[in-house]
Amino acid sequence: MFTIGILASGKGSNLQAIVKHVQNGFINAKIGVVISDNPDAGALEIARSAGIPAVYIEPGKYRTFLENHQEKKYVECLKQHGVELVCLAGFMRVIKKNFFREYQNRIINIHPSLLPSFRGLEAWKQALDYGVRFTGCTVHFVEEDIDTGPIILQAVVAVFDDDTPETLHQRIQEKEHVIYPLAIKIISENRLIRIEGRRVIIDEM
Ligand code: GRF
Repeated sequence: MFTIGILASGKGSNLQAIVKHVQNGFINAKIGVVISDNPDAGALEIARSAGIPAVYIEPGKYRTFLENHQEKKYVECLKQHGVELVCLAGFMRVIKKNFFREYQNRIINIHPSLLPSFRGLEAWKQALDYGVRFTGCTVHFVEEDIDTGPIILQAVVAVFDDDTPETLHQRIQEKEHVIYPLAIKIISENRLIRIEGRRVIIDEM
C-alpha cells in the first residue's frame, strides 16, 4: 500500500486530519511513521494514540535546520518505514540535501497563505498586517528554497475586519484540514499527472 511519512513539530492538527481521513478510507494509504524534532510535540501523541510509529529524532545543534548527520537519520527512518511520500505538517525546520537526494519531487508541505504571498513564519499575521481581504492555504511541493515549490492545491479564506491573528489562523487551519488530506489522496491515487514548469497537472477524474 502507498505509504506516507509525516514530519511535524507542533500540535499536529493537520496530522490529526490526515489520520482521520486514512481511518475513514478517504485516503487509501498507510501512514508509515511520524517523526518530530520536538519530543513534546502533540503530533507524536496523536500518532501513538492511532497506533502509528512515532519517533523523536534529535535535530542537532542548529535552530532552523537539521544538523547533517541528524538529517541523515531522518531520511533513514523514513526509508526503513517504506515511506514513498514525505508530508511536512508544521515541521519547523528547513530540510536540505539528504531529503532531496532521496525524495526528489516526493516531499510536500502545507503553508498558511496563498503562495507566493506571505512566505515564511506566521503567514496569517503577515496577511492581516498587510490588509489583504483574502488569504488561505497552499499545499505545494518542497524545493530547497522556502515556500516556493510548484502548487498542488489552494483554498481561499476571507479576512474579516474584526479578525485577530488567532481567529484568522483558526479559519485557515479549518481549510488546511480539507486540502491537505485531499492532496495526499490525489497523489496516492496517482492522479497527479505531471509538473510542467511550475504548473501541477491533476487528473480530476
Ligand atoms: C499549519 O498552520 C501549517 O500551515 C504550518 O504549520 C502549522 C501546523 O499546524 N506549516 P498543526 O501542528 O498541524 O496544527
